[in-house]
Amino acid sequence: QVLSLENQKAIVEFCKKEKLILLADEVYQDNIYAEGKEFNSFKKVLRSMGDDYKDVQLISFMSTSKGFYGECGRRGGYMEMVGFDDGVGGLMNKIASVNLCSNTAGQILMSLVMDPPKEGDASYGLYVQERDAILSSLKRRAKTIVSSLNKLEGVSCNDAEGAMYAFPTITIPQKAQDAAKEQGRKPDALYCIELLKKTGVCVVPGSGFGQKEGTFHFRTTFLPSEEDFPEIVKGLTEFHEEFMKKYA
Ligand SMILES: Cc1ncc(COP(=O)(O)O)c(C=O)c1O
Repeated sequence: QVLSLENQKAIVEFCKKEKLILLADEVYQDNIYAEGKEFNSFKKVLRSMGDDYKDVQLISFMSTSKGFYGECGRRGGYMEMVGFDDGVGGLMNKIASVNLCSNTAGQILMSLVMDPPKEGDASYGLYVQERDAILSSLKRRAKTIVSSLNKLEGVSCNDAEGAMYAFPTITIPQKAQDAAKEQGRKPDALYCIELLKKTGVCVVPGSGFGQKEGTFHFRTTFLPSEEDFPEIVKGLTEFHEEFMKKYA
């Protein structure tokens, strides 16, 4: 879900009050699909709160592996430190300098993400076309996966407002819970393994994320290509119906 400005301000307030460093993972800043929602960096929010908050320490993170570039094979990233003493910056620099540096391709890509083609550049038109095509396809895929999940018995899924994931809650019949116990597995892990074996679709059990006791979820992405979607949705729907029948 995309955090509201109020929510972000409350987080900044909390960090100030508790003297905590705010670590803002902002790798999904380009992946926002919900109408009327937008990315507000914590740096912007922090600065908008006035001088009283200028001692709040913030580190924000960005990566080449997300967004519309999605360059997972050429990993690169950066972190920006705000509100720190220069001495701390110097120490971080020293630590970074004694480590192995990240691969060159990743560094080049990160610099391109930070400095994309501008209006008037020869590649600008193509850049905009590709960026918009990728982001609007992700938006369609986010809608399709959520509406397909919400059609399944006992499944409820919030809108995927951003990022690349849907995280539905699923009802697991008691018989399936008993079968999972016998196998020494968590009930949602049983669901995910049976789904994988039956369809080849790989999702992550919610138990791996620390879900509320007595609830079950799985996490899925909407990254497969759009033309594969009908088959994935069909496989998931048929599997779910069979699973619910098998353990009814
Ligand atoms: C929220 C979030 N932050 C950071 C990362 C890590 O990205 P990278 O491997 O490009 O550093 C991921 C990867 O899935 C992620 O989902």
